[in-house]
Amino acid sequence: MRHLALLGSTGSIGTSTLDVVKAHPERLSVVALAGGRNRELLARQCETFRPTCVSVALADDAAWLSTQLSYKPEIHHGAEGLMACALHPQADTAVAAVVGAAGLSSTEAALRAGRRVCVANKESLVVGGPLMRKALAEGGGELLPIDSEHAALHQLLADRPSAQIREVRITASGGPFLEWPLARIRAATVEEALNHPTWKMGPKITIDSATLMNKGLEVIEAALLFDLRADQIAVTIHPQSQVHAMAGFTDGSYQLQVCANDMKLPIQYALLWPERLNGPVPPYDWNQARTWTFEAPDLERFPCLALAYDALRAGGTAPALLNAANEVAVGAFLQGRIPFGTIPDVNAALLQSVPSEPIQSLEHVLDLDQRARQQAEAWIRARFS
Ligand SMILES: NC(=O)c1ccc[n+]([C@@H]2O[C@H](COP(=O)([O-])OP(=O)(O)OC[C@H]3O[C@@H](n4cnc5c(N)ncnc54)[C@H](OP(=O)(O)O)[C@@H]3O)[C@@H](O)[C@H]2O)c1
Repeated sequence: MRHLALLGSTGSIGTSTLDVVKAHPERLSVVALAGGRNRELLARQCETFRPTCVSVALADDAAWLSTQLSYKPEIHHGAEGLMACALHPQADTAVAAVVGAAGLSSTEAALRAGRRVCVANKESLVVGGPLMRKALAEGGGELLPIDSEHAALHQLLADRPSAQIREVRITASGGPFLEWPLARIRAATVEEALNHPTWKMGPKITIDSATLMNKGLEVIEAALLFDLRADQIAVTIHPQSQVHAMAGFTDGSYQLQVCANDMKLPIQYALLWPERLNGPVPPYDWNQARTWTFEAPDLERFPCLALAYDALRAGGTAPALLNAANEVAVGAFLQGRIPFGTIPDVNAALLQSVPSEPIQSLEHVLDLDQRARQQAEAWIRARFS
């Protein structure tokens, strides 16, 4: 039986994770749930799963929750609350499903504590990559990816000597603007950008999918998880989202990982690995006629992907800087403060103006993250207020 601390329980990945838990009550239980601002949903989740430790973003919501529940769990709030859930003594597994760099410290702490950490929160790996590896090595736990492309790579690369691996390819649907000319992409509305063709996800990752920054963050994530160089990780556009990754071996042959585009599959894989139990969706139907297409990404229309490769090659604090700029830019776009086409401009400006330096500590990278956010915000204010 795995005992989960689910960080980000009220989000898209969080609710899918609870569906997987419901499907396997003999294998999975929940001991801690951390949400953000959606206190009503968190209250309902508490009544269903009865965690002994709960956290919300705000103190007022923690007080509200204590008046609503029919039982008395520990109730925390804020960054300390997230940490209390991540390190709950009864939890052997943490699911990192908070969005953005807000998930960094709790992911690192769970790794350091030697837990199995199932990571959806790619930003924490992008921002604090070397720190996560160190925490994993020192804590002696496990790091399992939930991102579908990385879960696919985990399956493809298992037990392969690295000398046999020539390259890996992660696929991208291409997002809603795959066929659009650059000028039209730059002027896209929030509604158009949130209309993802194949995946239903939270708003930040949906915008990142439309700019292809999501794929860029995933390239950096793949380098960290599988110890690969930038020139060993390629992106292939595959609008049908059925092939999630490919491993290319030294002899020129490839293996592909295929499954339905439902996040419950990689979530269940990460929670239960190395076991495989009945899946959350029907097995793939190979008798149904399908057309799969593959093409190279267009870096001129989707410059965020090229910026991510630049940041990966620069190393050190560059990925953290890019991530901070991107979180600010995506937030500003969703608030209607900047056009869609300005998101890559903010990211490029920050990456070019701040030199990369080696990451020294969690405090160092958190401080850099805050300063980069202020700089990105100042860049936007200077042009759009
Ligand atoms: N959705 C997908 O299919 C998918 C696929 C692969 C990877 N991912 C990655 O998984 C992560 C989560 O994505 P998502 O789509 O599930 O996002 P989402 O639907 O926006 O959910 C984000 C979760 O984080 C919580 N949260 C946000 N800020 C917080 C804070 N400061 N403290 C505590 N909790 C906080 C939210 O709480 P409230 O909603 O209660 O405010 C919510 O539970 C992202 O890093 C994303 O890139 C997602």
